Amino acid sequence: MAQLWGGRFTKSTDKAVADFNASICFDRRLYKEDISGSIAHAKMLGKQGILSKDDADSIILGLNGILRDIENGTLVITDDYEDIHSFVEAVLTKRIGDAGKKLHTGRSRNDQVALDMRMYIRGECAEFEKTLAHLLETLLSIMENNIDTIMPGFTHLQKAQPVTLAHYMGAYFEMFRRDRSRMLDTAKRLNECPLGAGALAGTTYPLDRFYTAELLDFDRPTRNSMDSVSDRDYLIEFLDDLALIMMHLSRFSEEIILWNSNEYRFVEIDDGFSTGSSIMPQKKNPDIAELVRGKTGRVYGALMSMLTTMKGIPLAYDKDMQEDKEVSFDAIDTCYNCITLFDGMMSTITFRKDVMERSAMNGFTNATDAADYLVGKGVPFRDAHGIIGKLVLYCIDNNKAIDDLSLDEFKAVCPAFEADIYEAVNLKTCVNKRLTYGAPGPGAMKKVIEEDRKYLLEEKL
Ligand code: ARG
Repeated sequence: MAQLWGGRFTKSTDKAVADFNASICFDRRLYKEDISGSIAHAKMLGKQGILSKDDADSIILGLNGILRDIENGTLVITDDYEDIHSFVEAVLTKRIGDAGKKLHTGRSRNDQVALDMRMYIRGECAEFEKTLAHLLETLLSIMENNIDTIMPGFTHLQKAQPVTLAHYMGAYFEMFRRDRSRMLDTAKRLNECPLGAGALAGTTYPLDRFYTAELLDFDRPTRNSMDSVSDRDYLIEFLDDLALIMMHLSRFSEEIILWNSNEYRFVEIDDGFSTGSSIMPQKKNPDIAELVRGKTGRVYGALMSMLTTMKGIPLAYDKDMQEDKEVSFDAIDTCYNCITLFDGMMSTITFRKDVMERSAMNGFTNATDAADYLVGKGVPFRDAHGIIGKLVLYCIDNNKAIDDLSLDEFKAVCPAFEADIYEAVNLKTCVNKRLTYGAPGPGAMKKVIEEDRKYLLEEKL
């Protein structure tokens, strides 16, 4: 295996050690960041007179050629090198000769990999921001179409009070909106350039770190060279962002799985997003939602893995940190696939509005409203609560909904009931009257939806 070092060794590396040590099979993913970081470094070395203009120019030309050839498939990244940094430098030197050997002047792989990974994660923050915006778009269009779709809201998984589908989806809209803003926060905080930190203690060359930071679109260079090569906080923050997205997706998946069950029948998942059983012909399973729920553990695992890897590492760079890549790349791919597939499932799902509304009617979700009705007739709330409790018990014994009772039956429990009780416990009335900001009443919901629409149009990372 070709290495960037070896001068002080008299024996070659044991094959198993070289394999164990190598990272090219996974850090090849960083080729673009690695090359653009090197181009910026070479430009700066040229500007500062550390390299001759000719050398700097030929390095930059060579690096651009390597990038182009990797992208068009003519240059294949092979496992014959220790890591992506060695690969790029070796190919460069092969192509342009001795000037290639000067690229690493005033640089270490420690600040190089710190830079590559930061740039990669910064790009991923932007990707996830877009992916989440698309999911929010899907949810908002469901909301806009279902302002009046009544369904039960639950507490303790027991039917509680009537809400609307728009309101229910709105709760998830809020979660993913926070996830999106977390991506923005993470991208902002990580945007300091570690290039120029060297192995750990800067260099004796007159590098212009502010220049390379600017070339690579960073807000500024990092402030401490030891911290620069050993900080992976930004990555832990990013994995935490992904873990939260997965937690939200997993809760949402659980709802869809329940709603898709024969017991609920609130939704019909599109055939394109369901799978069948090899033995039970009647089955149409919510596998996508189950997989999203299941894969959540993997992403949490990446977060725990990085927290654990970092917790005992003395300053500055230690090879433990190479472990940041595989788990992070896996978490990124997993979370990205989960968001896009979940998004696809939600944009094709059918809501059984009639079943939802019937379910809200059969579960005494208007009991609080019935109590509030009595309060309006002068009954203290605590007494009203007891009276309606009795009324519900009567309904359960007689297999009736509150709305089904005759006025005599109402009056038998409490004489304060009058004919207007029917209007008061009508589900539409119950929902329409919930008009505090953030509540499901269509009047209140319309306002929030308008704000959400504006937010999606205006806020970009
Ligand atoms: N493959 C290494 C990593 O991912 C690159 C840095 C190597 N530095 C070193 N001193 N061995 O962290």
